[in-house]
Amino acid sequence: MSALIRSVARNVALRRSAASASGRSFSSIEVDHYTSGKRNEGQGGASQPGKYAIQTFNKISPIGLARFPEDIYSVQPAEGAESPAHALLLRSHKLQETEIDVSVRAIARCGAGTNNVPVARMTEIGIPVFNTPGANANAVKELILCGLFLGSRRVVDGINHMKKLGQQGLAKERVEKDKAMFGGRELKGKTLAVVGLGHIGAGAARDATALGMNVQGYDPGLNVESALKLPRDMKLADSIASSVTNADYISLNMPYIKGTPEEGGTHGIIGRDVLAHFKQDAVLLNFARGELVDSSAMKEFLDSGNGRYISDFPDDECWDHPNAILLPHLGASTEEAEDQAAAMAADTIREYIERGNIRNSVNFPTTQLSERGEDIIRISVINKNIPGCLAKITSCIGEMDVNIVQQINQSRGEIAYNVIDLDVKTDHEGKVNLTKLQREITMLDGVLSSRILSGIRGAGYARNIDGDYHV
Ligand SMILES: NC(=O)c1ccc[n+]([C@@H]2O[C@H](COP(=O)([O-])OP(=O)(O)OC[C@H]3O[C@@H](n4cnc5c(N)ncnc54)[C@H](O)[C@@H]3O)[C@@H](O)[C@H]2O)c1
Repeated sequence: MSALIRSVARNVALRRSAASASGRSFSSIEVDHYTSGKRNEGQGGASQPGKYAIQTFNKISPIGLARFPEDIYSVQPAEGAESPAHALLLRSHKLQETEIDVSVRAIARCGAGTNNVPVARMTEIGIPVFNTPGANANAVKELILCGLFLGSRRVVDGINHMKKLGQQGLAKERVEKDKAMFGGRELKGKTLAVVGLGHIGAGAARDATALGMNVQGYDPGLNVESALKLPRDMKLADSIASSVTNADYISLNMPYIKGTPEEGGTHGIIGRDVLAHFKQDAVLLNFARGELVDSSAMKEFLDSGNGRYISDFPDDECWDHPNAILLPHLGASTEEAEDQAAAMAADTIREYIERGNIRNSVNFPTTQLSERGEDIIRISVINKNIPGCLAKITSCIGEMDVNIVQQINQSRGEIAYNVIDLDVKTDHEGKVNLTKLQREITMLDGVLSSRILSGIRGAGYARNIDGDYHV
C-alpha cells in the first residue's frame, strides 16, 4: 500500500455495517456497530474480522510478539501489509504520518525515547504513543556494577598488558613481577553516591548495598515506586554536591535535559563546582549520557589526582586518559533488554486496545478503570482538553437513556481521555445498537475519536477528522 493511498484513506469517510464474524473482547452482549479500519470502499482491505491487527516496523523480539495471542491478534510487518493496522509497534524506525492509517488507535515504541515518532502530531489527532521506561534498566544496572569493578581494579590495563607480554613471549616470565602495577581496592565498605534514583539508579543502589557498600544518593524527583526499591539505610542528600562529598564512587543516573543547570537543564551538570566536592580518588560512573559531564573539567580532575572516569559514551577530552575507560554505549545492549522492551510494549498495547487502560504513555494521561462484569459495554472517548466536553459526552449518553455504571476522566496537556462503562438496554434479539450514540459522541465539538471496546475485535473505532465522521 503506497503512502499516497494511505494518506487518501485518512480522508475518506467510510461506513460499513458490522461484519458477521464474532470475537467478543469485553462484554458478552452482541454490539451492533460499525467495523472500522477499512482502507477504501471497494478495496476489500479490511483487517481479519474478529482480530486486532498489529503492524510492526523493525524486527521486534519474538518474545514480545508472543504476548499477542494468535486467536485474537494478527501481527504482520507494516511493509507489504495487506490490511490496515489497529496499532503500530516499532523500535528505531522514523515513523512518518503517512504511514499511520486512519484505523490506528495506538503506537508503541520498544524503548525509552520516542524521538522517531511524531508525538506532538499524534497528540493533536488523539493517538496515544507508548514507550517502555525501565525495560532496559537491569541491563544498564549490570554494566554499572561492571563499571564499579573496572573502576576499582586495573582489569583493563592488566588485560592489555598481558596481550603485550604475550606478543613478546614474556608473559610467564614477567607476570608475577608486573602485577604490582595493577593493584586495586575492594568495594566492600566503600561509599557509593547515586545521582538519579529512578529505574536504573534505584537498582544500582540496592545491589551496591548487597556488595557491602554504603550508599547515599540524590534525586529531587524521587517517586514512590523507586523509593520502595531503595536500601533501607540509604542516606538521601539534598543536593548533588552534598551527595558526592565523601563518596568513593559516584554513579550518574539522571536524564539529559538540554540547557545548563542554571537554565533548568542537566548539560554539563558535573562541572568544576561539583567536581570540587569529589574525593581526589573518586570514581565517576557515567552510564546516563555523555553530555552530563563537562569534559574539560573532568580531564582536569583526572589530571590532578588519581580519580577515574568510567563512561558508556564518547568523550573528546578524556578518551585516551590513562584513568578513563570509555565503552561504546553498551548499557542496554543485551538480548534480555530487547525482549523486555518488546514484551512491555506489547502488554501496554493490549491493555489499551482491549480495556482502554493507559500506562507508560508519553502524551496521554495514565488511566485505569476496573472491569465491571460481562454485560457492561465499555466505551472510550478522546477529546481536546477544553471546558464543557465531558458534560456534553455524558448528556449525550443520558439522552439515549443509557446508564453510566462507572467512568474515569483524565487529562494531560491538550488531551482529555474518558473511559465509560455503560449499562445498555438490549433489544428483543438481545442486541444493543450503539451506532447512533457513537456517532453523536464522536461528532461533538472537541471530540477526536471514540471506541466501543465491546463486541467485534477491531471494530467500533470512530474518528472526528476536521468535522468528518470516519469509521
Ligand atoms: N547507557 C545506556 O545505554 C542507557 C540506557 C538506558 C538509559 N540510560 C540513561 O539512564 C538515565 C536514567 O534511566 P532510568 O531508566 O533510570 O530513568 P528514570 O526516569 O527511571 O530515572 C531518572 C531519575 O533521575 C531523576 N533526576 C532528574 N533530574 C535529576 C537531577 N538534576 N539530579 C538528580 N536526579 C535527577 C529523576 O527524578 C528520576 O528519578 C536515562 O535518562 C538515560 O539517559 C542509558
